[in-house]
Amino acid sequence: MKTWIKRIGLVVLALLLIVAGFAAFIQFSGLPTFEPIHMDLQVEATPERIAKGAKIAAVQCMNCHMGNDNKLSGMVMEDVPKEFGVIRSKNITQDKEKGIGNWTDGEIYVFLRTGIRKDGSFAPVYMPKYPLLADEDIYSIIAWLRSDAPPVQPSSRELAPTVPNFLVKILSRTALGPPPFPEEPILLPDTNDILATGRYYALAAYDCYNCHSADFKTNSSLEPEKSVGFFGGGNPMLNLEGETVFSANITPDPTYGIGSWTEEEFVKAVKYGTRPDGTQLRYPMLTHTVLPDEEIQAIYTYLKTVPPLQNEVKR
Ligand code: HEC
Ligand code: HEC
Repeated sequence: MKTWIKRIGLVVLALLLIVAGFAAFIQFSGLPTFEPIHMDLQVEATPERIAKGAKIAAVQCMNCHMGNDNKLSGMVMEDVPKEFGVIRSKNITQDKEKGIGNWTDGEIYVFLRTGIRKDGSFAPVYMPKYPLLADEDIYSIIAWLRSDAPPVQPSSRELAPTVPNFLVKILSRTALGPPPFPEEPILLPDTNDILATGRYYALAAYDCYNCHSADFKTNSSLEPEKSVGFFGGGNPMLNLEGETVFSANITPDPTYGIGSWTEEEFVKAVKYGTRPDGTQLRYPMLTHTVLPDEEIQAIYTYLKTVPPLQNEVKR
């Protein structure tokens, strides 16, 4: 009997030591680095691409990178849940020293896909990775970053770098590490297929699922449909006053989701932030006035096909 207890005790002790050793390793080793990926790319900047890039940037990059000089010179991310610590974005203007003016098109492409920089360092959670975005749309973003648009003109602002906490470090080595670099070209969806187009906007281009699934920590950027609580809401984030705001359930459930909303009501909410009962949506749900109605309608059509979830999110 006694030797049994002793043995179990030793096993438990050994397990504890392994866990403690692993935790110490994560804590002291910092963020992981990865094999740099080289890519030769020269994006041709057409007016169409610059315009498309501006639209995607308005929904994505601008919200997280806009500095107090009205350029994309970096900001403190106010809506990041406290558990991730203080997260600061970076200067992505054309400044050659403080911004990304010296990055090649290939380096930007690789970074947007994987979060890996040319020195192998990794931008953790909160810089989204875009493994499903079509090549053409990435080219458009690059064309816009190089354009004469005011927000990307050189700025010499520089924020202190983010000091990653334990959670950020462990996620970078596990669930939220870099998605694999695509082996095949990624094409835009067929514009005649409204469902595929809506899915592309909601999952690949405008990242709606990311905030609207249960938790950033259990989202899958490679297979968004596998994110826990896919579009069922309840993901806690902070508004500008530091209060918790939960993302909404936008599955087609008639009681807890948007199953009873008409297409017009949905467009109004996404575009101008006004709900059917007249109340305004709160930060960090933003208005999307740059998006044409057809795009929001396509998202609506797609959302009608995702599995309804009976998850009640209190406002
Ligand atoms: C949800 C917020 C968010 C969005 C959206 C976002 N970023 Fe970022 N981005 C960040 C954060 C935070 C970092 C800093 C990561 C770090 O500390 O390593 C970052 C880092 C970067 C970097 C690395 C810069 C450097 O000097 O290392 C580039 C380039 C970049 N973002 C470009 C973009 C572009 C282009 C878009 C739009 C397609 C975009 N980001 C959208 C939050 C965001
Ligand atoms: C940065 C996180 C974030 C992103 C990205 C985001 N949302 Fe939201 N969304 C929220 C939050 C938080 C709420 C709840 C706001 C509130 O309760 O006032 C919300 C509310 C909504 C609502 C209102 C639902 C209701 O029942 O009141 C709709 C519709 C919606 N979002 C659609 C979208 C679509 C479509 C996209 C992509 C284009 C999107 N959201 C992207 C965070 C986000």
